[in-house]
Amino acid sequence: MRVIGIETSCDETGVAVYDTDQGLLAHRLHSQIDLHAEYGGVVPELASRDHIRRLPTLIREVLADAKLTHVDLDAVAYTAGPGLAGALLVGASMARSLAFVLKIPAVAIHHLEGHLLSPLLGDQGLTFPFVALLVSGGHTQIMDVQGVGDYRLLGETVDDAAGEAFDKVAKLLGLPYPGGPQLSQLAEGGRPGRFALPRPMKQSGDLNFSFSGLKTAVLTERRRSADCEASQADLAAEFQEAVVDVLVAKATAALESCRRKTLVVAGGVGANRRLRAKLDATGRCHGFEVIYPPPELCTDNGAMIALAGALRLKGGWRADNGLKICVLPRWALATGANN
Ligand code: KG4
Ligand code: ZN
Repeated sequence: MRVIGIETSCDETGVAVYDTDQGLLAHRLHSQIDLHAEYGGVVPELASRDHIRRLPTLIREVLADAKLTHVDLDAVAYTAGPGLAGALLVGASMARSLAFVLKIPAVAIHHLEGHLLSPLLGDQGLTFPFVALLVSGGHTQIMDVQGVGDYRLLGETVDDAAGEAFDKVAKLLGLPYPGGPQLSQLAEGGRPGRFALPRPMKQSGDLNFSFSGLKTAVLTERRRSADCEASQADLAAEFQEAVVDVLVAKATAALESCRRKTLVVAGGVGANRRLRAKLDATGRCHGFEVIYPPPELCTDNGAMIALAGALRLKGGWRADNGLKICVLPRWALATGANN
């Protein structure tokens, strides 16, 4: 089965073709970073218009890369939420129209399901069950994953997502958009420990997170410190260490409470080198394996959506090729045991 995946939930237009026998055949991504940079954040209307502009070309290019034509496709998978309503509508309209014309099913995929299954695109031989740490710009969640579609929420952020905290702190330190990668680059030249930032909710006894207070603490420390490059780098390093400390502690506690031996890390913050180093070291100590998606598939992309669609269809999920277009800007992938 060959599935084309379309991702347009935020500021990246992603298209890919996944084959259930041969794996990922082709994938392309257009990032809108330059478009939004001068505004310091994603402008939803500009995002939607750019998805409209890019999508037809990307689909043509991906099919050409995979040496396929439209008629070789068996299904279309698209991100139906969560995300920006207008941006999601562009991808959903394109996917549903394509499926209608080709008389093949269109599968609505949850963006986070794409992220948490994305390590299956690598060649690490990942098998269920596992615990997933989803750390992106919009979400910070820990899930127990028993199989495709079988997800249990173990904990999540009560305010800002980890990536959002990175982006906000970067802005506060005067770094250009998008802040997360820039901040982590600055942190690599700094010394954690010179400033003392809190580790929010590390000892809360549950698997939830809170990152908004950390941002305020950075602001307070910044006002107190000398405005020099070394101070900025040390503050960035301490902030990164604080986020990483909490993420590692909660992920370890989740693995222990579910008695799992595999941790999957997905979402944009999963590209953070300090997070990876600390998780890997903790894994070696505690006897768990940490699996990441291939680096280029850590952030939003069409490949994870194509894969999730293929796995859903393979598992017997029913999908139609009707033209009813429905997107869910707010959509919970799973709820906790008590919800
Ligand atoms: O998963 P993603 O591409 O999009 C969402 O669904 O949100 O994640 C983007 C987020 C942004 O907040 C970005 O700043 C953050 O991931 N990010 C990083 C790094 N690379 C991307 N945060 C910290 N360190 C990085 N190296
Ligand atoms: Zn994402």
